Amino acid sequence: MKALILVGGFGTRLRPLTLSVPKPLVDFANKPMILHQIEALKEIGVTEVVLAINYQPEVMLNFLKEYEAKLGMKITCSQETEPLGTAGPLALARHKLIDDSGEPFFVLNSDVISEYPLAEMIQFHKSHGGEASIMVTKVNEPSKYGVVVMDEETGKVEKFVEKPKIFVGNKINAGIYLLNPSVLDRIQLRPTSIEKEVFPRIAAEQKLHAMVLPGFWMDIGQPRDYITGLRLYLDSLRKRSPSNLAAGPHIIGNVLVHESATIGEGCLIGPDVAIGPGCVVEPGVRLSRCTVMRGVRIKKHACISGSIIGWHSTVGCWARVENMTILGEDVHVGDEIYSNGGVVLPHKEIKSSIVKPEIVM
Ligand code: GDD
Ligand code: MG
Repeated sequence: MKALILVGGFGTRLRPLTLSVPKPLVDFANKPMILHQIEALKEIGVTEVVLAINYQPEVMLNFLKEYEAKLGMKITCSQETEPLGTAGPLALARHKLIDDSGEPFFVLNSDVISEYPLAEMIQFHKSHGGEASIMVTKVNEPSKYGVVVMDEETGKVEKFVEKPKIFVGNKINAGIYLLNPSVLDRIQLRPTSIEKEVFPRIAAEQKLHAMVLPGFWMDIGQPRDYITGLRLYLDSLRKRSPSNLAAGPHIIGNVLVHESATIGEGCLIGPDVAIGPGCVVEPGVRLSRCTVMRGVRIKKHACISGSIIGWHSTVGCWARVENMTILGEDVHVGDEIYSNGGVVLPHKEIKSSIVKPEIVM
C-alpha cells in the first residue's frame, strides 16, 4: 500500500522552531512530527510514502534517507515548483500513487497527531464500497476546520464545508484520508484544494464516507495546540504503553524522558513534559507542561511551565520560563531571567527579562 503526506506550507505559525527545520521535522514527544505518521503507516503495511513538498526538499530528504533504511520503507519526494494546494500535489504524484494493484492509498495532513487508527480505516473503507473515506473528529470550535455533515448511521457524507462562516456542525475533517485511485481522475494538475473542490463533489455523488476517529486528535501546527497535543498524546501513551513513561518520586503525571537525558537530584517534573535526547536537567529544576528538545541544558533551580525549549538551548540557574514561551534553536537564557511568553528567534542570548509576551529577534 502507498501513502502521500502533504508537507507543504512554511509553518509560519510554529516559528521560531520552523526557522530551523521544516514543520514536519519539528520534534513532538521526542521525535519529528512526520515520523509519528510514517511509523503508523509502516505498522499497517504501507511500503511506500510520497512526501508532497513545496520548499526545502533537501533538508527533508537528507533526514528521511536515514529513516528509509531504518524502517525499510521507500520514501520519496514529489516537489512542486509552485504551491499546488491540498489536491494539486496528488495530481503531480499520480504516477507514484497508481500501480497495477488498484488499491486505495492514504493521504495525510502532516500536522495532525492522533492514534492513527489506520487499520480500522481500511476496514471501514472496504465496508462501504464508496470512493473515498475521511476521518472526522468532534471539536468545540469547528470554524477553523473543514466541517462534515454526515448520516450518523451509515457515515455517508452529505456535505463538506471548508472553514464555514456559519455553524453547520461540529464534526470536522481530521486530515486523514483513504482514497480509491479513481479520485485522481477528478483532480487537475493546478493549484487546487481537496477540501473545497474535490470532497464536496464526491459527497454530492454520495461516494464520500466519514468515520469518527477513535481516541484523541490535534492539529499541532500552533504553539498552544502543540502543548495541548502533547498532553493528549501522553494520556494516550499512558493507556497504550505506560512503560514508556517515566516513573519515580520526582515525576508527576505523564512524563517522557529520552534514555540519553540526565536528570539531577531534587527535580520535580510533570505533568505533561517531554525531555529529548542528550538533555541535561540540573538539580532542583521544576518542569511542567513543556517540551525540552534535543541537547538542551536546564541549569539548577530553573522553573519552566507551558513552554517549548528549542534544540540545544540553555536556561540559566533560577530562571523562570512560562506562559507559552517558545525558544528557537540555540537560545541562551541567562541566570535568574524571567520570560513571560517570549518568542525568541534562534541563536539569541537573553540577558534581561521578558515581562510580557513578545517576539525577541
Ligand atoms: N505539498 C503541499 N502543497 N502541501 C500543502 C500545500 C501546498 O501548496 N498547502 C498546504 N499543504 C499541506 C500542509 O502542510 C498541511 O499538512 C496540509 O496540507 C493542510 O494544510 P493546512 O494549512 O495545515 O490546513 P488547515 O490546518 O488550515 O486545514 C486543513 O486541516 C484541517 C485539520 O487540521 C484542512 O484539511 C481542514 O479541512 C482540516 O479540518
Ligand atoms: Mg493544519
